Amino acid sequence: MSYNYKDLGLSNTREMFAKANKEHYAVPAFNFNNMEQMLAIVEACAEMGSPVILQCSTGALKYMTKEVTPLLAKAAVDRARAMGSDIPVALHLDHGPNLDAVKSCIDAGFSSVMIDGSHYSFEENIAITKEVVEYAKNFDVTVEAELGVLAGVEDDVVAEHSIFTNPDEVEEFVSKTGVDSLAIAIGTSHGAHKFKPGTNPKLELDILAEIERRIPGFPIVLHGSSAVPQKYVEEIKKYGGELTDAIGIPNSELMGAAKSGVAKINVDTDGRLAFTAGVRRVFAEQPGEFDPRKYLGVAKEEMKSYYKEKIKEVFGSENAYKAGK
Ligand code: G3H
Ligand code: 13P
Ligand code: ZN
Repeated sequence: MSYNYKDLGLSNTREMFAKANKEHYAVPAFNFNNMEQMLAIVEACAEMGSPVILQCSTGALKYMTKEVTPLLAKAAVDRARAMGSDIPVALHLDHGPNLDAVKSCIDAGFSSVMIDGSHYSFEENIAITKEVVEYAKNFDVTVEAELGVLAGVEDDVVAEHSIFTNPDEVEEFVSKTGVDSLAIAIGTSHGAHKFKPGTNPKLELDILAEIERRIPGFPIVLHGSSAVPQKYVEEIKKYGGELTDAIGIPNSELMGAAKSGVAKINVDTDGRLAFTAGVRRVFAEQPGEFDPRKYLGVAKEEMKSYYKEKIKEVFGSENAYKAGK
């Protein structure tokens, strides 16, 4: 089945980002892998009146399938409307590896895509991004690209160290590619182990400021921005999980970024931790429980309440649109 995202009630990110930059907040881009996570995300955002980007990695797409994923995103729109909220909802491909993956997602009903050429040379990154932008334009689908390399795990690609984005390259990259938003590397990283224990978890905010000076008003994206809440790490460990040296980006470091030119902030790991803590709690406290609604329901509510907290503490996107309940 093939869909146009507009027929699913989805939005691309263009207006979302323009409004976010004008009103000095960031749009939450939360990854999802199943119906419970989708509901947690959309209900949190609808209750807060925050725009939302439902973000889907290639691994998540494989898991949920190409047939189900766009319809889950449509269901998210319907759920928000049933709650009385008018928040825009985008379905975004996270870390798209090549033009074929992008084409197949646009055909499936995605409203926004990322082409991740960050592991290529500057020139190759420009070439592959430009090709994607040219294609996506035909469908009014917005495109995110990345300059610089984040440390950590993305699908099967592992980068040992981050390579911070070079501010000297951003103007040329943006103008030559025609891309809609740009992900940069300033010290965030993917996964639950962002900093070594005993080191100071800091972002390179000077690089961010310099990039903003070079491309004023242009939507900037931060990946790898989970806070790795210690309350969930402790709870997971208490109930038999193994998680050593899990350290994230303090919310206080991100708050300033959200108020600046950063229009989109990606969070996946925090939702996974909240969800897992919820499942483990039910299994530990009610060992006789085997109704999936009972443990997945608790996990969903935990993820939803954490995301509402994060929207308030970091994104600043509450009440940008009509809230619902
Ligand atoms: O950037 C990576 C995201 O957290 C997605 O992770 O590829 O395991 O779904 P995943
Ligand atoms: P976290 O692992 O910090 O949640 O980052 C997610 C991300 O950047 C998805 O693209
Ligand atoms: Zn990412």
